[in-house]
Amino acid sequence: MHDPADRPPVSAPDTRSDTITVRGGVPVEGHIAIRGSKNALPKAMVAALLTVEPCRLTNIAELTDIDVVDELIRIAGGSVERHPDSLTITAHSFTALGEHDVMRLHAASRIPVLTTAVSLHRTGHAVVAAPGGCSIGPRPVDFHLNVLRSFGAHDIHRDDVIELTAEHMRGARIELPFPSVGATEQFLFAAVLAEGDSELANAAIEPEILDLISVLQKMGALISVEPNRTIRVTGVGELGGFEHRVIGDRLEAASWASLALATGGTITVQGVQQQELATFLNVYRRAGGDFTINADGDTISFRRERRMLRPLALETDVHPGFMTDWQSPFVTALTQADGVSVIHETVYEDRLGYTDALRSLGAQIQVFTECLGPTRCRFGAANHRHSAVVVGPTRLHGAELVVPDLRAGFSYVIAAAAAEGESLIHGVDLLDRGYADFRSKLSSVGVDHR
Ligand code: UD1
Repeated sequence: MHDPADRPPVSAPDTRSDTITVRGGVPVEGHIAIRGSKNALPKAMVAALLTVEPCRLTNIAELTDIDVVDELIRIAGGSVERHPDSLTITAHSFTALGEHDVMRLHAASRIPVLTTAVSLHRTGHAVVAAPGGCSIGPRPVDFHLNVLRSFGAHDIHRDDVIELTAEHMRGARIELPFPSVGATEQFLFAAVLAEGDSELANAAIEPEILDLISVLQKMGALISVEPNRTIRVTGVGELGGFEHRVIGDRLEAASWASLALATGGTITVQGVQQQELATFLNVYRRAGGDFTINADGDTISFRRERRMLRPLALETDVHPGFMTDWQSPFVTALTQADGVSVIHETVYEDRLGYTDALRSLGAQIQVFTECLGPTRCRFGAANHRHSAVVVGPTRLHGAELVVPDLRAGFSYVIAAAAAEGESLIHGVDLLDRGYADFRSKLSSVGVDHR
């Protein structure tokens, strides 16, 4: 346990709009309504650009990525009609984005890169910039480019942008070096309107991808998901409009569940499906959490089953493994477990940076470059700091923190809520990227903040 004298000073309350002060140490209690998934909704919006017919999406969450895709569609010549719980996209025409717009939009979000295949289909031309998004590693686009080259696209690299052209996209057989979510989506957008048959081996099969496949099927696409991560597509001449209710956000659900676990409180989340959280629920229970699920499987109450949490060994993986986006909120809760937990992050090379901040609240966490898990992942040999050992339980205390990325930011909120005293968290606007109405949700579960 830390001596109070070791604690970093907490400054006077900050009046900046993107700073909150959290007074922790009280178990949370409340209800959270979850809306459409951050990782599914923007992709369904991109799918709407493959047709000239109107497409309607419901279960809309007000997220930064939605605003980015909305703007992109308008610049490209389409329209987006927004209502409180739905939006309708019509892309009668589509003009390839210019370098300036691409650079600006890419700086705000990773999603614009997913419009590359769409732009190639509709205009024969596309521009890709060095992608933005969260600061969890370089997040390259080499898999995307290789997918597009296989369909017949040519790329020219200039300073900050890559220009692509394709007169005609033809079906392709591709194997991904890693089951990348984004590259699988790029493949789907390319294959559905390409001439002939396509096959993607080692594809990602996350629930958000299956939701996108449902959208494309409604539009008239021919797609099958085979065993062993293989997706087969037969290209069609044109696609039509759709109506679709986007799946609930399983990442957000797990974040609030981790807050309940860390503080010893109870949070009920409504609007996600049990089966999409199955792996998370198992680990939650193993760590000493408990939950009750309603008959429809879409409302789950999370709480602690025992006073002291159990430590465990945890390895992130692609679906159906333990999702990388669940890692930082859940590991923050493990600072309260009685013993040593071992974490191995195998999806991103740089997703343990948040542990430095947790240490400033008193957590005992050490980060390693070795693979501390059963899988020999691609980051071990490359010397990335991608494994961690967490020793608990630690009494956390307030600190001053700056949010570096979305999930890390939520982890800081969890740590601050579990800590005794006040914490000052700067940069919380970044949380709007994945948690719609973030501050009012914090209030609704009783986190003391201002
Ligand atoms: C998506 C999710 C993100 C989630 C991730 C993995 C969205 C908007 N974001 O991100 O929340 O954490 O899936 O489930 O849906 N890679 C390359 N080259 C590429 C593409 C990816 O090396 O061209 C690597 C990445 O650096 C990373 C791994 O592949 O190490 C997985 O990335 P990927 O699945 O593509 O993530 P995103 O689609 O960007």
